[in-house]
Amino acid sequence: GELSYSDSIKEAGDSMSRFPLIPVRGVPLMNHIANNWDSIWAFEPHPSDLLIATYPKAGTTWTQEIVDLLLHNGDQEVCSRAPTAVRMPFLEIFSPPPIPSGLDLLKVMPPPRVIKTHLPFQLVPQGFWKNKCKAIYVARNAKDNLVSYFHFDRMNQTQPEPGPWDSYIYKFMEGKLAWGSWYDHVKGYWEQREKNNILYLFYEDMKENPRREVERIMRYLDLSLPDEVISRILELTSFKAMKENPMANYTFIPMPVFDQTISPFMRKGEVGDWKNHFTPEQSQAFDEDYEQQMKGSSVPFRTHI
Ligand code: A3P
Repeated sequence: GELSYSDSIKEAGDSMSRFPLIPVRGVPLMNHIANNWDSIWAFEPHPSDLLIATYPKAGTTWTQEIVDLLLHNGDQEVCSRAPTAVRMPFLEIFSPPPIPSGLDLLKVMPPPRVIKTHLPFQLVPQGFWKNKCKAIYVARNAKDNLVSYFHFDRMNQTQPEPGPWDSYIYKFMEGKLAWGSWYDHVKGYWEQREKNNILYLFYEDMKENPRREVERIMRYLDLSLPDEVISRILELTSFKAMKENPMANYTFIPMPVFDQTISPFMRKGEVGDWKNHFTPEQSQAFDEDYEQQMKGSSVPFRTHI
């Protein structure tokens, strides 16, 4: 049977302790995901379902909001119908009440659905590829992704303690954070993008020219919306608008599970914040390791950022 959220909390020790990570095929996942793995792996999507896949903190929520608005003709009312996590189920997660678990939501929502996952390619239920579901992957440059994850782990009581900044860098480099190695994640989807018709986007491109990237998503979804609707969607998905939107800014995950007084979910939304965190020595060690881990890969990250 499936373990409930409260069972998983009990297993974690007490109601306030953070969920430990348990490896699933070598990828560290929160204990409730690992405990529920068979049900997650068996999930059968409908061919009309759309997958949004990311390494945590790469721009998932932003992309979700863009997609939801594109699918609803830029209608703000419709997209305020519920929190992000209810509008677009998070496949593998047991959310804290009042948000139902991803699989529970999917049981009651009719297709077509927009489904979020942080699973690396090899752990995504195979039905997505067998059924030729569309999938959007968003990658973010490693250092900013790491910085964003560090602040998220400070405020998110459901993930292991981040510990000190210096050691967090090594946990990231060694693939020890929840959902595993960033390097394997970005490479895994990149290698599969052509075969499985995955739209592979970059957070930095979205920041540089959001209209261009929104239009790419629109074409991928076989939609054609007038310019003024696209302009409206760009306004509604600006960092500022989403930070103020209670249906998008994760204030729907109650205290103390997400303690946004420690660090807000909509934190900075910028490219290059890593420069405010890494010392020159840390940056050099990271770059040397990065070169090794990304050797032979052609993922077009802008490493000069
Ligand atoms: P920072 O912590 O660098 O600010 P995810 O949704 O995958 O968890 O990613 C969260 C990151 O995306 C956070 O990064 C958040 O601020 C940023 N983000 C969310 N909405 C955004 C938007 N509309 N524009 C730019 N960045 C956004």
